[in-house]
Amino acid sequence: MKELIARLTQSYGPSGQEGEVRRRIAEEIRPHVDGLRTDALGNLIAWKDAGKGPRVMLAAHMDELGLMVTHIDEQGFVRYAPVGGLGHLGLPGQRVIFPGGRIGVVAAERVEDVKELKHEKLYIDLGAADRAGAPVAVGDVAVFHRPLETAGTRLIGKALDDRVGCAVLVEVARRLTSSAVRAYFVFTVQEELGLRGARTSAYGIEPDLAVAVDVTATGDTPKAAVMEVSLGKGPAVKVKDSSLICHPEVRQALEEAAATAAVPFQREVLERGGTDAGVIALTRTGVPSGVVSIPTRYLHTPSEMADLADVEGAVRVLLAFLSRSTGA
Ligand code: CO
Ligand code: ZN
Repeated sequence: MKELIARLTQSYGPSGQEGEVRRRIAEEIRPHVDGLRTDALGNLIAWKDAGKGPRVMLAAHMDELGLMVTHIDEQGFVRYAPVGGLGHLGLPGQRVIFPGGRIGVVAAERVEDVKELKHEKLYIDLGAADRAGAPVAVGDVAVFHRPLETAGTRLIGKALDDRVGCAVLVEVARRLTSSAVRAYFVFTVQEELGLRGARTSAYGIEPDLAVAVDVTATGDTPKAAVMEVSLGKGPAVKVKDSSLICHPEVRQALEEAAATAAVPFQREVLERGGTDAGVIALTRTGVPSGVVSIPTRYLHTPSEMADLADVEGAVRVLLAFLSRSTGA
């Protein structure tokens, strides 16, 4: 599972350019599903046991945060616009990579006060001598350049949000031998820009119920905002975030599945943020929806941290959920 997460997090895939991630996931999941297609926006949809039982949609997003080139000055320094919710404070000193492998360093103009540090004061240095020597163009997108590393059971890397969710779906497809439902494994595009791929894929699938698998914040670090979720205490079953109040029956079914699988779980109330389930729930005449979350520290930085045991727990909860699930 760790190797799978490493392969997925190392793939390039900012919002709108998920092709490399999609190809890799398709390779991983193809042997374990009955069918596979890509929709018009680029969502990858795989399914098992088409033809009987209610349709259950599992969704995880493929896209990651990026820095889009907006301007290259005469000296070859690059200005960028964030793609997705990228904080500026941790950026100076980070390395980013463009498609084709060109590395850049994010650096900051000199400021009197750290409060002045905004994205507009930051730039990407490609080591170019001048504008003509800068091997990127306006519209190109860089992503964080970091390997996946481990510290005991902790995983540390970029794009755990949400490649770790993608890995959970692949693993569930691999281990799911029989179930009473038609399971759809949906790898969505452009979640970080406003849950965009989830909207069209859910419309196409018309699921009877849905579960998104994504990362969530934790409250277990120094002076963190109060939140009852910690790393390593099990996957979280979401109650609410700013996009969704989870359907009580789906939530209950997930909690019962955790009990059946003997997986410890945490209840999650996330006060800011949302997931694909927020728009899936509002598809057509409505879809009962829930979320299984992987507790993750330092979200949207190059050093997101999750616990492998929580990831494994999420796989087992979903397997138990699919074996008992007969519709909400
Ligand atoms: Co995110
Ligand atoms: Zn996410």
